[in-house]
Amino acid sequence: MKNIAISIIFCHLLVNAQETNSDNKYYKIAVIGTGYVGLVLGAGLAEFGHYVECADIDQEKVNKLNDGIIPIFEPGLSELVKKNCDNNSLLFTSDVDSAIQKADIVFIAVGTPTKEDGKADVSAVLSVVTRIGKNLNGHKIICTKSTVPIGMSHTIQSLIQPFETSTNFVDIVSNPEFLREGTAVQDFFNPDRVVIGANSEQATKILCDIYKPLLQKNIPFLITDIASSETIKYASNGFLAVKLSFINEIARLCEKVGANCYDVAKGIGLDPRIGNLFLKPGPGYGGSCLPKDTKALLSKGKEIGLELKLIKAAIEANDDQKSYIVEKIKTLLHNNLAEKTIAIWGLAFKANTDDIRESCAITIVQQLLEQGAHIKAYDPIASNNMRRILPDITYCSNKEDALEGADVLVILTDWQEFTSINTSTLSNLMKQKIIYDTRNILCELPLRTTGFTYCGLGK
Ligand code: UDX
Repeated sequence: MKNIAISIIFCHLLVNAQETNSDNKYYKIAVIGTGYVGLVLGAGLAEFGHYVECADIDQEKVNKLNDGIIPIFEPGLSELVKKNCDNNSLLFTSDVDSAIQKADIVFIAVGTPTKEDGKADVSAVLSVVTRIGKNLNGHKIICTKSTVPIGMSHTIQSLIQPFETSTNFVDIVSNPEFLREGTAVQDFFNPDRVVIGANSEQATKILCDIYKPLLQKNIPFLITDIASSETIKYASNGFLAVKLSFINEIARLCEKVGANCYDVAKGIGLDPRIGNLFLKPGPGYGGSCLPKDTKALLSKGKEIGLELKLIKAAIEANDDQKSYIVEKIKTLLHNNLAEKTIAIWGLAFKANTDDIRESCAITIVQQLLEQGAHIKAYDPIASNNMRRILPDITYCSNKEDALEGADVLVILTDWQEFTSINTSTLSNLMKQKIIYDTRNILCELPLRTTGFTYCGLGK
């Protein structure tokens, strides 16, 4: 409690200091890594008025970005990138060394994928840190934006130390991202909070300067030590995973006892201690963060001799959820999937993204294939990404094509375009009139009255 109180007081002092200083300070910033996080961060910081160079070792990607081609689907991002490139405040380069040399602050936004043992693979982060060391020309702030294991700042410090002199030295800061794919641009400009973990007051002040437009909007800033900041990121995603696995278990319970999970979620969510967000049951959480960060948290626990039972249970329940969906489809098809044609609507791990990382669709489709089913899949934008992982299914160019000859329609992603359906088109195209809506996005009544077997999740 004491630490939190101090942090908030410190934060208020900073806010006041900013208010008395009307000058905006602009910095030269390097963002290393042009994935989801790096691109949104780089474009957002350029929009705040800073000069940003986004560097990536992938020359082909850099060329595309310089030609205005954004390699990912993220609403509002290409406009933001274009605007800031046009006014020369944002630049893409493969010359990582030069970007580092020019920068006052280097944000590390490279990937930290999960290794076999569940730990985060930090090799890309370490290689960036070594490069920063080799190009150290004055005082710089190294800021970790990638989700790095708790304690990473010590590793960074020991790696950078041999390069430091009395004039060339670094401050290390942790500034975790909480961007949600699909709404990342909006989240960048309207975050719930900005967390800054630092050991130096000067570095903290510079980070507050960088995010000044957010301070001015009264977004809460939480200043902590580095380990707490790193832990906040993992604890946030761990808690969200627990919340989702909890509601998915309650959904299964609801089905057994004849309750409606939506009403139950509403009923519990009205209690402000629980809150009404992140309580939609679904086919299992996916994406680049929740699955990865829960596994990393579990493995951190193991490393320090702590069994994180709740996190472990959340992961297991999420795996079970996908198998549960497959079992349900099997039940709807009289316990036999062999030679059945299954239409899958939605391959992305959620709507408004082309990201298929850890998407429930991967496991569910693989399990259906193992049992002899044929898959006809449609996703508005994620099919191309999925082709690399599931090459042997039929990809359809629109949602109607996927329905032709299907024994069942399974909706896995909550895309807006799936909510409007024409029951007579469905009747004409499908072999059997069965729908399994794992996101509960369809209106049940018109389907039932036109002879469909409709199955939602948790009701
Ligand atoms: C998440 C965190 O929300 C974000 O703060 C962090 O920075 C990165 O990880 P993201 O991976 O973009 O963001 O996805 P999110 O919107 O959190 O959804 C994660 C998964 O949970 C998706 O598969 C989604 O479909 C599922 N979900 C989410 C539900 O099933 N029900 C819900 O109520 C909410």
